Amino acid sequence: MSDPRQTSSSPSSSSQPPSARRKVVLITGATRGIGRSIAENLSGDYDLILAASSEKSAEKLRHTHPKAVVFVADLAEVNSLESILGQLSLERLDAVVPCAGVTGHRPVHDTTPEQWQRLFSINLFSVAELVRCLLPALRRAQGSVIAINSGAGHFSGEGFGPYAASKFALRALTDSLREEERGRVRVSSIHPGKVDSDMQREIQSLRGNEYNAERFIRPETIAKAVRFALETSQESMTEEITIRPVQR
Ligand SMILES: NC(=O)c1ccc[n+]([C@@H]2O[C@H](COP(=O)([O-])OP(=O)(O)OC[C@H]3O[C@@H](n4cnc5c(N)ncnc54)[C@H](OP(=O)(O)O)[C@@H]3O)[C@@H](O)[C@H]2O)c1
Repeated sequence: MSDPRQTSSSPSSSSQPPSARRKVVLITGATRGIGRSIAENLSGDYDLILAASSEKSAEKLRHTHPKAVVFVADLAEVNSLESILGQLSLERLDAVVPCAGVTGHRPVHDTTPEQWQRLFSINLFSVAELVRCLLPALRRAQGSVIAINSGAGHFSGEGFGPYAASKFALRALTDSLREEERGRVRVSSIHPGKVDSDMQREIQSLRGNEYNAERFIRPETIAKAVRFALETSQESMTEEITIRPVQR
C-alpha cells in the first residue's frame, strides 16, 4: 500500500482539543454513488480519509479530493483490513461512514457459497472489522459510526434475499454496537430506498426495467442525512433515518 498519509498532513494524529481541530471522517465507497455524494458534502468542513477498492479508484479519489488521505482497501479481503488501517496510525477519529456495498440481487436458490461469502464480506464483515479496528480512535473522539444500510435492512422479498440478509445483519450489528458503546460512540443507521446510482442501474437492468433516474432518490439527499446524523448535538443520537422515494 502507498503511504496513506501522502496526500495530507496527518489530520487524525492531532493532539489539539476537539474544538480547535477540524473533525476527521473516514468514508468507504466514496468513488461513486452515495459515497461520492457524502464525500462531496463533507469535504468543505471535515478532513476526509477515503478508502478505495483499488489503486485505480484511489487515483480517481486523489484527483477529486486532493486534500484527503486516500488508501487502498479491497473490502472483500477482510483479513487485510487490520494491517491497512493500522498504517493510518489514527489517534482520534470523529466518524466512520461505511458506505461501500454490492447488490447480490439474485434468488436464494441461485446463490453460490462464494457469492454469499463475497456479499457478506463487503456488506457486513468489513464493517465489523472497520469498527473493531477503529473503535479506540472513535472512543477518544467521542465519535460516530454512520452505517449506510438500506430499506432492505428492514424488508426482504423475492429476488433479493442475499442482499437483504446482509443488510438485516448489518442492522443487527449497528443495533448491538449502539448499546455496547452508548455514552462513548454514537451509532446511526441510514436506510435509503432506491437511490440513483450505478448499483440501482444494475438492479433495474437485472429486473429488465427501463432506468428512470427521476423516480429515485438523489444521492445528495442521503449525504444530507449523513451530515445530519454526524452533526446531531452531542447529548443526542440519530439512531436511524429512513428515506424513501415519493414514487413507489
Ligand atoms: N443505490 C441504492 O438504491 C441503494 C439503496 C439503499 C442502500 N444502498 C447502499 O448504499 C451504499 C452505496 O451504494 P451505491 O448505490 O452508491 O453503490 P455504487 O454506486 O455501486 O457504489 C459502490 C461503492 O462501493 C465500492 N465498493 C464496491 N466493492 C468494493 C470493495 N470490494 N472494496 C471497496 N469498495 C468497494 C465501490 O468502489 P469502486 O468504485 O472502486 O468499485 C463504490 O465506491 C451500499 O452499501 C448500498 O447497499 C444503495
